[in-house]
Amino acid sequence: MHLVALLFLTELSVRKIVIAGNWKMFKTQAESKEFLEGFLPSLVDTPQDREVLLCVPFTDLNLLSQSLHGSRVNLGAQNVHWEDNGAYTGEISAPMLTEIGVRYVIVGHSERRQYFGETDETVNLRLKAAQKHGLTPILCVGETKQQRDAGETESIITNQLQKDLVGVDQNNLIIAYEPIWAIGTGDTCETIEANRVIGLIRTQLNNPNVTIQYGGSVKPNNVDQIMAQPEIDGALVGGASLEPASFARIVNYQ
Ligand code: PGA
Repeated sequence: MHLVALLFLTELSVRKIVIAGNWKMFKTQAESKEFLEGFLPSLVDTPQDREVLLCVPFTDLNLLSQSLHGSRVNLGAQNVHWEDNGAYTGEISAPMLTEIGVRYVIVGHSERRQYFGETDETVNLRLKAAQKHGLTPILCVGETKQQRDAGETESIITNQLQKDLVGVDQNNLIIAYEPIWAIGTGDTCETIEANRVIGLIRTQLNNPNVTIQYGGSVKPNNVDQIMAQPEIDGALVGGASLEPASFARIVNYQ
């Protein structure tokens, strides 16, 4: 086989596809249980090429860890502190998460940046702490509507990546490109544009095999088109991950 073709195939085969649900501050344990009863049976025919995970509220983690045992769904949290323990009221540490079987954690979601004072510096600390304990962080980056309209999308994302990734191991990392204006609005980024920005993110990484997801109003009716884009390796799904049939359709994208 021609060397270039071989390299191309090698690259294709190592970028893992990851479809993640982000439940945000939704679902009690009773509601989680009900969700799983509807959702898990829909995964029997899910192709093996994709990893499925649910990032749920802290109070649901223990229950899900037990209920997902033996299933193909992995467990993720939505935040992690950089210290192993200490006087940090309201925070959670990586050892507390790994002890109950959590494998992934969302870091730097725009809602944390916007409402809870998350900065690129704290995002960076959280990423490194997650990795130190064997968690795979999902780093969220993205621009506001105002920044996009001002033509600043590229510079904002470049700046976030430069600051967030200092000292971060790119061999154990997922990135989610989430244009903030597309989150929870039903206003999905044009798939070609999402593909373009994700391609740009890839040029700024030193590992070409990092999985880069798109997030922002991913729904059953647009997921096939999104996942058909060559640069997009998965989806981070908020609202549409709360309902079993809808998330199952997304996970089983064609
Ligand atoms: P959405 O949220 O799918 O509801 O737009 C995505 C996210 O915030 O990760």
